[in-house]
Amino acid sequence: MSKKWEFLYLSQEDCIKAGGTDMSGAMKAAERSFFLHGKGDFIQPGKPVIRWGGPETEETIGRIMSMPSWLGGEQYSEELEKRGLIGIVNTAGIKFIPARPSNPQKYGRPRSSALFIIVDPDTLIPACVMDGAIVSAMRTGAAAGVAAKYLANPDSKIFGLVGASVQGRAQLMGMKKAIPSLEICKVYDINKKTAVKFAKEMRDCSQMEIEVAKSAEIALGEADVISTATIASTPYIKAEWYKEGVFHAESSFWDTYTDALRVMDLIFVDDWFQVKHHGVDVSWRAVRDGVIEESRITGNLGEVVVGIKKGRTDKKQRILFNPIGLAIHDLSEAHRVYENAKQMGIGKKIKLYRDPNAWLKKIHF
Ligand SMILES: NC(=O)c1ccc[n+]([C@@H]2O[C@H](COP(=O)([O-])OP(=O)(O)OC[C@H]3O[C@@H](n4cnc5c(N)ncnc54)[C@H](O)[C@@H]3O)[C@@H](O)[C@H]2O)c1
Repeated sequence: MSKKWEFLYLSQEDCIKAGGTDMSGAMKAAERSFFLHGKGDFIQPGKPVIRWGGPETEETIGRIMSMPSWLGGEQYSEELEKRGLIGIVNTAGIKFIPARPSNPQKYGRPRSSALFIIVDPDTLIPACVMDGAIVSAMRTGAAAGVAAKYLANPDSKIFGLVGASVQGRAQLMGMKKAIPSLEICKVYDINKKTAVKFAKEMRDCSQMEIEVAKSAEIALGEADVISTATIASTPYIKAEWYKEGVFHAESSFWDTYTDALRVMDLIFVDDWFQVKHHGVDVSWRAVRDGVIEESRITGNLGEVVVGIKKGRTDKKQRILFNPIGLAIHDLSEAHRVYENAKQMGIGKKIKLYRDPNAWLKKIHF
């Protein structure tokens, strides 16, 4: 048997060719990881974060996160198939994601960039190294979309969005896929040019009317479904902005005042352990600061997906989904793109070694 080992390298362009920007596929991958989370068929340690200062500096100075996980599925393969959720994963991977908020303005580079490694399930040797930025953005929009599918009113018409950059785009596509009745997106960004560009570029692909709002309050005040995806480091969303029946996915961290959570009938997260561990999300800060009781956190969305907990039971309920972002979502989505790439013959094979022991004879002073 040959001793050489090759892994597949997928650039951003390769990921696009392999379906990385397909929101329908990303939603299936996200629902698969929510489902397996609800079943407990995953391993996901608390993610290490390098941050320069306290949690609030993530949005001003930056951070680096490493997000390892293992995701199963073997024992649920029939149910996954019945639900149309792609298939099993049964392997592990890690996302390495540094983010520098000043990048767009200072260097014309994205705030965050990422690499993802997937291992061979038998040997645990890296089998794929791929761009992780597309996976990361798509799985975040898809996670919010899956949450909307389970928690928003299905006849919602108005989508209010604050933050019109990378995540804003993924949020729009995830929400429209989940709630096809959405007709209008009212978008606000602190940088008006960003919002105008967003409106121009997203109209056709989202099949929605897009209005640039003059303020966050105007964007959100009449919304049935809300997404916030900014790098705000001080809150601006007040309780009185939420109309009856609203569903709000807060994927960024500081947009909403903690006391606005008091008007929420239900508060779901993606994983309460991870939310507490990271210590930034508004749901955690509201509990930590005694604004709401911990018992007001209704649960993890996976529990709704598998049917252990109820989601929306009344049209009038105001519901918050506050995800910190899970490594298993990255893994599920990266695995989907990797499997597509293998089937389609996309990517470049790169040699890890010809002989894994050759270097041992080369050690020298
Ligand atoms: N929870 C998750 O799973 C998850 C995953 C990925 C990213 N995120 C978070 O989503 C956020 C957005 O990510 P991105 O990649 O789009 O960032 P980005 O830096 O590309 O864009 C942020 C946008 O927010 C706008 N903005 C900043 N402050 C604002 C304010 N007060 N009001 C309105 N707009 C404001 C900026 O002008 C910019 O257009 C980040 O906080 C990131 O950490 C969360």
